[in-house]
Amino acid sequence: MKNKILITSALPYANGPIHLGHLAGCYLPADIYYRYQKLKNRDVIHICGTDENGVPITIEAERDKKSPQELVDFYYKHIKESFERLGIVHDNFSRTSIPLHHKNAQSFFKKVNDKNYIITKRTKQYFCPECKRFLADRYIEGTCPFCDSKEARGDQCENCGRWLDPENLISPRCKICGGTPILRETEHWYFRLDLLQPELEKWIEPKKHWKNNVKRFCRGWFKEGLVPRAITRDLNWGVPVPLEEADGKVLYVWFDAPIGYISSTMEWALRIGKPDRWKDYWLDSETSLVHFIGKDNIVFHAMVWPAMLIAHGDYVLPSEIPANEFLNIKGGKFSTSRKRAVWLHEFLDIFEPDLLRYALSVNLPENKDTDFDWDDFQKKVNNELANILGNFVNRTISFVNRVYSSKVPAAVNLSAEDREMLEYLLKTRGVIEDRIEAFELKKGIKALMELAKEANRYFDRTKPWETIKEDKEKCSRTINTCIQVVDGLAALMEPYLPFTSKKILGMLDIERNEWEKVGEPRIPENKKMGKIEILFKKVDDERIRIEKEKLGIEEAEMVEIISIDEFSKVEMKVATVESAEKVENTQKLVKMVVDIGGEKRQVVAGIAEFYSPEELVGKKIIVVTNLAPAKIKGIESNGMLLAATKDNELALLTIDKPIDVGAKVS
Ligand code: MF3
Ligand code: ZN
Repeated sequence: MKNKILITSALPYANGPIHLGHLAGCYLPADIYYRYQKLKNRDVIHICGTDENGVPITIEAERDKKSPQELVDFYYKHIKESFERLGIVHDNFSRTSIPLHHKNAQSFFKKVNDKNYIITKRTKQYFCPECKRFLADRYIEGTCPFCDSKEARGDQCENCGRWLDPENLISPRCKICGGTPILRETEHWYFRLDLLQPELEKWIEPKKHWKNNVKRFCRGWFKEGLVPRAITRDLNWGVPVPLEEADGKVLYVWFDAPIGYISSTMEWALRIGKPDRWKDYWLDSETSLVHFIGKDNIVFHAMVWPAMLIAHGDYVLPSEIPANEFLNIKGGKFSTSRKRAVWLHEFLDIFEPDLLRYALSVNLPENKDTDFDWDDFQKKVNNELANILGNFVNRTISFVNRVYSSKVPAAVNLSAEDREMLEYLLKTRGVIEDRIEAFELKKGIKALMELAKEANRYFDRTKPWETIKEDKEKCSRTINTCIQVVDGLAALMEPYLPFTSKKILGMLDIERNEWEKVGEPRIPENKKMGKIEILFKKVDDERIRIEKEKLGIEEAEMVEIISIDEFSKVEMKVATVESAEKVENTQKLVKMVVDIGGEKRQVVAGIAEFYSPEELVGKKIIVVTNLAPAKIKGIESNGMLLAATKDNELALLTIDKPIDVGAKVS
């Protein structure tokens, strides 16, 4: 470990609120890591801010009928406050629309340009005749040439993570009007990634311990060979390109945004009244630069940004790029633009911040995508936080209050059992340190919960409620040991559960945690306890039902598991449609006569919007034949045909090679 640590977390776009996917991706891990390093008394700062330039902002502003400035002003404040409510600590939370950043990004560009790492090219670019504008980045969508995803954006495919050029999209369309764009000539500035490839490879070579997702990406790009990439855009919002001949052009947002890490550090230095302090981090090779990001940001942090830094020449390069996978809601991806998310600010209106910090910590998508699930959240709070961690702290302190008039009893002649408990505490500290330093934060919180479990077992085994009557000295050293464990838990949980840690310190009436003293009996005999509080309130079923309903996921949840016997009660047969007619005065109904093999049935079905009567005649379909007959709009239906539906589509089930009518389906 180098002696200075500069932690950054990806600058969130100021175009929407923060959701749980963002948090699990990088903001919570960065905060845990930062808080841990602080507890270790290391020289560390955590830098962030909002990403306020580029197309992600202008598109959302247009949609909201606001100016880009109004939009970013609103979300800068919103995001900053949400982070604070969750206890995410930043030494500086800046924004990339401020003059300091514009100036800094421009001088970065100039230096790289002066060193001949930037060239101009006249190219053809997509222009929408309808909207009369060039379509930069997200203004254009189409099919990804690499993975076939239909929703790739002009600058990047979210599905496969590739960095794209809009010209590569298949069937491009204008995001604003949906029309087909045409190619028009324009001039842009290109960054010579090709020249930087050898040095980049040399830089990445020794990063053997990096996560596979990052290494895999890098290997892929190098194999393909890097090419110059456009770093300017035709847009009227962002950092103007600092060249006379580039009038009306701005820097591509992914060129200026990472420079924002430097600008934010500069702003911090000014704010604390030591204007040169930022240099101690950025200009010193003894700094460990750690970028926390989500996997959709890998290409920019592991390739483009380091290439920019190499080209520029003055600054340190990233040491670590812990990139998480995605946190999904039941298989779907969190997405700001698609408005399908659990929003941080709404979550915090209802639940204590540490409940979320815990639920996310134990479920971080460190090596693969994970799911956020409300039932699981409830279980974690009730069965783990409340029943294990909360319970141990509570039973210990209430015991001290009740039996020892709120004063810590003495620890005379600790037994092997007591010492083992304290050793377990010390060992857990080591485990958490190792895991956090290896960016395996999930294992750290799990070790903490194991400690709480072990502590409960120790309490149960030593039975202080009995020894208080039979062996007062034993009772006293048990409870003393438990108090030391409560104190140790408070310290070890601080990176993950800072609010709870603070509450426990209050209950112990102690000022602050001391990481290095965890495992030593820090709380002296006779110490008077502070006020006892309940650490975690349980989450009830009704609350969870409401939250699920908000996401519109309740029907999916109702799916019931049935046995094969139940399933085989349903009789289904292959049938042919003999005749079909639309039911008068209805929109959807068709009346049919179907042959189910030696027997004709009248069936009514709501498929008129999807099939005409003529199309139906002669079709082989599947019919449920043992349903009780029903009347639909007064017409008897004696069978039900099978169809697949989704949103506004319907397709009849049929058979994929010839078989006789009447054949059973199972
Ligand atoms: N705004 C980007 C996103 O949310 C992240 C920018 S990170 C930085 O995906 F490095 F550019 F700052
Ligand atoms: Zn793709």
